[in-house]
Amino acid sequence: MSSADTAPDPGSLVIAVDGTSGSGKSSTSRGVAERLGLRYLDTGAMFRAMTWWLLREGIDVRDVAAVAAAAGRPRIESGTDPLAPTITVDGVDVSVEIRGEDVTAAVSPVSAVPEVRARLLELQRDVIGDGGIVVEGRDIGSVVWPQAEVKVYLSADPDARAARRAAEEGGSDLALTQESLLERDRIDSGRATAPLTMADGAVHVDSTHLTLAEVIESIVALAVRVLPGAREGS
Ligand code: DC
Repeated sequence: MSSADTAPDPGSLVIAVDGTSGSGKSSTSRGVAERLGLRYLDTGAMFRAMTWWLLREGIDVRDVAAVAAAAGRPRIESGTDPLAPTITVDGVDVSVEIRGEDVTAAVSPVSAVPEVRARLLELQRDVIGDGGIVVEGRDIGSVVWPQAEVKVYLSADPDARAARRAAEEGGSDLALTQESLLERDRIDSGRATAPLTMADGAVHVDSTHLTLAEVIESIVALAVRVLPGAREGS
């Protein structure tokens, strides 16, 4: 059998990009999706959308039972064009609101609630469907789609991550930004359900000393290696 006979179909390719907060997952994943003509799903945005809705409903995000009971209610929809990804809750565009400080401070405890994860897991698998997508998150290669053909674990030193995130946020305080990133890492890695971890078979890419273009290039190279038929922009 030739490698072409055994190679997966490029149209069904799933690339899982997991990693810590601020490691460059979003820019990287969008860039890879654009280069390979794939869709793009930001699962962190789904957890943020759930958190935004809970806050708006006045539900105490530290009350695990209340969060669990409400997790099935909001209708969360993700648009997967890497050039213009969208996220709506009950039909309302919340792409700006979900980046607010209140949501960022509450999202890690909300994402530790098993009922929240179960609800969003179902939505994530629906969107992934037949594949042809780059999916970024914390547990994509380990739980959401362990059969992904390409799995990447993206990391960077805390200093580099804080500097990038502070610049994205228009020059916010570096020390506070780093503290908030590390606190989220601690909760995301320590939770009982689907913690942030390097999935079996994942390739570790440390982006500390790499440019965005270099990180994108290294993942495109991995995809082309597992998928000899893959062509950029196809
Ligand atoms: O990638 P982000 O910073 O926007 O993610 C926000 C939070 O969502 C993050 O603190 C952990 C959670 N998250 C998760 O638990 N599992 C995912 N697959 C994606 C995000």
